[in-house]
Amino acid sequence: MNKARVQRLLIALTVFLVAIQIFQPARTNPPAVASRALIAHVQVPEDVYSALLRACGDCHSNRTRWPWYSRIAPLSWVMTDDVNQGRRNMNLEDWEAQESPKKANERLIDICKEVRERGMPPFSYRLLHADLRLNPREIDSLCVWSQSFRGETAAP
Ligand code: HEC
Repeated sequence: MNKARVQRLLIALTVFLVAIQIFQPARTNPPAVASRALIAHVQVPEDVYSALLRACGDCHSNRTRWPWYSRIAPLSWVMTDDVNQGRRNMNLEDWEAQESPKKANERLIDICKEVRERGMPPFSYRLLHADLRLNPREIDSLCVWSQSFRGETAAP
């Protein structure tokens, strides 16, 4: 590619990046209702709950900390989508949104698996937020708690 072409390409890219800023998704933090929260329904040890809120709260609670770059498209699209989907799957502050007690129980059991098998938090989030990472002791406590919801019918 010659210089003129590179220049035209850079200008087009800049125009594109500026233009997409028009599409600003809503970054919400809906008010939490205490009676709907996980801790209003299930016994959660204090250390486990604070670890969950710290490491998972940005996508699984109503108190998302939106960083400055969450205002910039296309990051803003990806991040609001993550938060909306994360909350829909499991909102620590809206446990009553779980579709059934059975599903809610499955979610609780799933928490340990997600963390141990490193599905959660998502990779990109872990890269950006190394400081929020769960330490091995926290993961152990989390798993003891999470696995206490397995019934007698659970697989060994
Ligand atoms: C950056 C956002 C983000 C963070 C932080 C995050 N999650 Fe998620 N989580 C999601 C999204 C998006 C989904 C739904 C899509 C999926 O399953 O990948 C999800 C789904 C889940 C599910 C349901 C999985 C399923 O397939 O049913 C569990 C359980 C879960 N997360 C646990 C956690 C735990 C525990 C943490 C903290 C250690 C955490 N997540 C941190 C975004 C996040």
